Amino acid sequence: MNEFRAPPGTHDVLPPESARWQRLVALFAGRADRAGYQLVVSPMFEDLAVFQRVGEDTDVVRKEMYDFLDKGGRRLALRPEGTAPVVRAFVQHRPLTPFKAWYAAPSFRYERPQAGRYRQHHQLGVEALGPEDAELDVEVMALAYGTCGDIGLNAVTVLLNSLGDDTCRPAYLDTLRAFLEERVDDLCDEHRERAKANPLRVLDCKRPACVAATADAPRLIDHLCEPCAAHFEQVRSGLDAVGVPFQLAPRLVRGLDYYTRTTFEMQSSALDAAQNAVGGGGRYDKLVEALGGPPTPGIGFGLGIERLLLAADAEGAFPAPARTADVWLVDVTGGREATALAYELRAHGVACDRSFDRRSLKSQLKAANRACARLALIIGERERAAGLVTVRDLDTGEQEEVGRGVVAKHVQERLMRP
Ligand code: HAM
Repeated sequence: MNEFRAPPGTHDVLPPESARWQRLVALFAGRADRAGYQLVVSPMFEDLAVFQRVGEDTDVVRKEMYDFLDKGGRRLALRPEGTAPVVRAFVQHRPLTPFKAWYAAPSFRYERPQAGRYRQHHQLGVEALGPEDAELDVEVMALAYGTCGDIGLNAVTVLLNSLGDDTCRPAYLDTLRAFLEERVDDLCDEHRERAKANPLRVLDCKRPACVAATADAPRLIDHLCEPCAAHFEQVRSGLDAVGVPFQLAPRLVRGLDYYTRTTFEMQSSALDAAQNAVGGGGRYDKLVEALGGPPTPGIGFGLGIERLLLAADAEGAFPAPARTADVWLVDVTGGREATALAYELRAHGVACDRSFDRRSLKSQLKAANRACARLALIIGERERAAGLVTVRDLDTGEQEEVGRGVVAKHVQERLMRP
């Protein structure tokens, strides 16, 4: 038994799984980049107050935060999510708006670990600050949905809601509070206490008592003020226009408190119900102000990398690539020939690898097969003396001899062929 293991709720990402991560991040980065979002890298920890300010009343902030005192006596917290850090950075540096950022970063939540629920998970996200325009909501949601499509997910549903704003929400909350007060004895233990303070959280509660008690609760989308209703309508028709299917989810509240207007979640029916959200997001038009900045609307999302890949597994999509090198160098003259040829091939953009430790021909060819290489380039004493390389096609077994001076070009051309 090994002495050390990764801490509970964390996991190592090793090959070949890591190759899927790499591809997923690259696909997302490409998509975000093409839509004008630029990479933002912010610290893994922030002043605890940054997170307290955005969700004092949520489980994520109240119960699950990794907070600590550093050696200088500062109260810090590992980030539980990606939005507050980007908004904090925006307020600090005041870049021009629209400010469109993407990130791929770990988040930390002290949750009960289980399949699809980790204490360190990783999110692909965007945050767009400045415009209030519903067309931006559509762009952001299409980006999230498109990323699911990029990895071949078919069983993803977009759930859509509007949480209104400061004009319409307070009156709705009073209505909801009154509704809940009449049923307070039917609520779960936690919400019997807290329904008054944050009635929306009750709608988010998954415990059967709360679900049953709130089945007929008033819906915020029926109480939106005129501007919020118009915004919501524009989001819906915009999603139709770009072909992003969605379902209205009037109970969708989400686990963080900063949301206003558009909120959405992407659920995969291929995953267990408890952890079926592959991503979620929404508008947070008051968050910049809450962190001390000028009034600036914002919207974004986070997609859980682990959840996306679990959903892909469940759908048999996005397999890890078996091939780790296109070309394998088999040098039975000692290894120096492979060193020189690898250097040359890589300079030509060819993905090649080689064996070390003077292995036998058989062992080196076995390694080539394990890497699923397309070609083996074999250099024995005879080839070296004649200035040749034997190029073996590992799929067909055919081979030919190519002059050492032109082999890089030859391989480059061969790999271009399907
Ligand atoms: P969130 O819904 O808390 O939103 O997290 C986003 C996604 O991260 C979830 O849908 C899920 O896929 C994944 N996730 C969350 N917690 C865990 C966990 N413990 N283990 C594995 N995966 C997890 C946010 O974090 C917001 N910052 C999203 C956002 C961005 N809203 C506006 N901008």
